[in-house]
Amino acid sequence: MTAFAHRHLLGIEGLTREEVVQLLDLAGTFHAISERAIKKVPTLRGRTVINLFLEPSTRTRTSFEIAAKRLSADAVNISGQVSSTVKGETLLDTARNLQAMKPDVIVLRHGSSGAAASVAAVVDAAVVNAGDGTHEHPTQALLDAVTIRAHKGRVEGLEVAIVGDIAHSRVARSNLHALTLLGANVRLCGPRTMLPVGIEQLVGERKGQVRVTHRLEEALEGADVVMMLRIQKERAGAVGLFPNTREYSRVYGLSAQKLALARPDAIVMHPGPVNRGVELDPGLADGARSVILDQVTWGVAVRMAVLYLLGTGGEPVAEAP
Ligand code: CP
Repeated sequence: MTAFAHRHLLGIEGLTREEVVQLLDLAGTFHAISERAIKKVPTLRGRTVINLFLEPSTRTRTSFEIAAKRLSADAVNISGQVSSTVKGETLLDTARNLQAMKPDVIVLRHGSSGAAASVAAVVDAAVVNAGDGTHEHPTQALLDAVTIRAHKGRVEGLEVAIVGDIAHSRVARSNLHALTLLGANVRLCGPRTMLPVGIEQLVGERKGQVRVTHRLEEALEGADVVMMLRIQKERAGAVGLFPNTREYSRVYGLSAQKLALARPDAIVMHPGPVNRGVELDPGLADGARSVILDQVTWGVAVRMAVLYLLGTGGEPVAEAP
């Protein structure tokens, strides 16, 4: 097992293609553990993982906890509602106090971009960014990439359409980095009001691998993968970006009729939570081409891979799978 060169996982930006592939390959190994009757290995026995979630989460928080427990780490969960942040404690004071209890890994979800990097600067523990504002959600991009690879056999050369509220989506940002590193071509699609400022520079840096369109039909034409995004109503600035939900759904929602423009074997993805009937037709969400629940399953394996590499300091351990 090759050591991992990073102490923290704060984003996909800054990782090399080889490091992303290393994480995906390792996730493949851990995926097999979740298929066993006894889903536990002693790899992180004696290590402590703190999940500090100061924004709501179902998939990410639960899968980090399950991942830690399947690796035999001690997992502690703290949510915003029950932490002393509601009494006015700052994030960095919270982090310093948690550090005083000697955790090995702190997994942080926070509403502010850059929060994970700020915590990483004041703690000794490895920090995993579980979503920071509109910045990055690296483990989501890793689980998306490994799900694509599992269904398509590769990522390189695929046409991936990412549709919706790109501007406020940390999922889109991390996926853009991961998918282009892995050699996919990415089409970003949404109304002008939902594309980030400076997108031209982002596209320019990706040497022809990324294009932007406001027309869903153009994004879908011949796509191998269709990734639909939720409108991030909880983010400042994400309200009032389109006339109403019905209008958005009519123009940018994915229906069976629109999906027919993609390749016949195209898969449908969504990071969740899905707003059924808004960005995605319920029949497609539950249909044969949806891999949404596979994404969730792979989420556990990816988070096991990340906790393993960061929780062991990147050093090979005797019980490595
Ligand atoms: N995809 C994702 O981050 O889902 P949660 O907000 O439920 O964790």
